[in-house]
Amino acid sequence: MIEMQNVTKSYGDFKAVDNLSLHVDSGELLVILGPSGCGKSTTLRLMNKMAERTSGTIKIKDKDIDSFVEEDLRKGIGYVIQSIGLFPHMNVWKNIATVPQLLGWENSSIDRRVDELLLLVGLKPENYRYKKPSQLSGGEAQRVGVARALASDPDILLMDEPFGAVDPINRLRLQKEFRQIQRRLGKTVVFVTHDIDEAILLGDRICIMNHGKVVSLDTPENVVLHSKDDFVDSFFKGEGILTILSRKNVGDYMEEIPWEGEEIVQDSTLKEALSLMLLTGEDRVPVKGGSISFNRILQVVGRDINEKA
Ligand SMILES: Nc1ncnc2c1ncn2[C@@H]1O[C@H](COP(=O)(O)OP(=O)(O)OP(=O)(O)O)[C@@H](O)[C@H]1O
Ligand SMILES: [Mg+2]
Repeated sequence: MIEMQNVTKSYGDFKAVDNLSLHVDSGELLVILGPSGCGKSTTLRLMNKMAERTSGTIKIKDKDIDSFVEEDLRKGIGYVIQSIGLFPHMNVWKNIATVPQLLGWENSSIDRRVDELLLLVGLKPENYRYKKPSQLSGGEAQRVGVARALASDPDILLMDEPFGAVDPINRLRLQKEFRQIQRRLGKTVVFVTHDIDEAILLGDRICIMNHGKVVSLDTPENVVLHSKDDFVDSFFKGEGILTILSRKNVGDYMEEIPWEGEEIVQDSTLKEALSLMLLTGEDRVPVKGGSISFNRILQVVGRDINEKA
């Protein structure tokens, strides 16, 4: 779906992106992770020609991006920029409706779509529809930015730290819902983040960048547990095994042993189950339809560690 080959972006003598090659499959969610200034945003901006590459080729759907009319390229790609970038003079409705209006949708369809998207990102339409960006908190504005990128139902989404300013509780909910929607609708997504938990939770594959280059590109399990690269190891600081638990749902490891207490749902992560055990001091927590034990979680982690050997 997206193919970058030997792409370099120079600013004078400095290479923000340095001979980078990667591909993103159709329906895949690729996370780009790396330290500040390593070239993540630049890589994303090269894909929709917000920045012009110095050399190399970029193809979208097997077509060189230079062969697209720039307007068409951007209409077909949803883009959430790092600094949110809402149009300050337009209210929330108008911000989200911009691309559907450009595409000539009927007003009634746009109204429905705006409300649906506001609900999706956890903002009550009746309270937020007519607010101006200056009347929103940073996290709310970010959520409107995500709704705007989804508005025209594009095949490809480029998302630059889209949930960075959202509080942890809403962020986890948004991450999970976004992941479900992305899978269901088969969107191709390139998602930039600093947040290791977010990268592991969301990514089909994780691309770790440093100094404009790809250091590692593999599944979260392989990047975290099988890495032979010191930079990658230093990035996860030994917390990778715990973080991997956030990719796994308790429903897949549940045992049919009834247990008393406040139930968690089957799509809770193993990390959430482990946190609850630590909070309650119990070594088993009830899940709707069964329960999961501390030992079961250890087995999951143990199996992943054995895979490493
Ligand atoms: N227009 C520009 N002119 C000169 N240098 C630039 C320009 N845009 C970006 N850079 C430099 O390119 C490098 C990569 O920038 P980029 O925005 O891609 O980083 P990033 O990985 O997204 O960082 P962050 O995590 O802080 O958002 C940085 O060192 C930045 O200073
Ligand atoms: Mg950036």
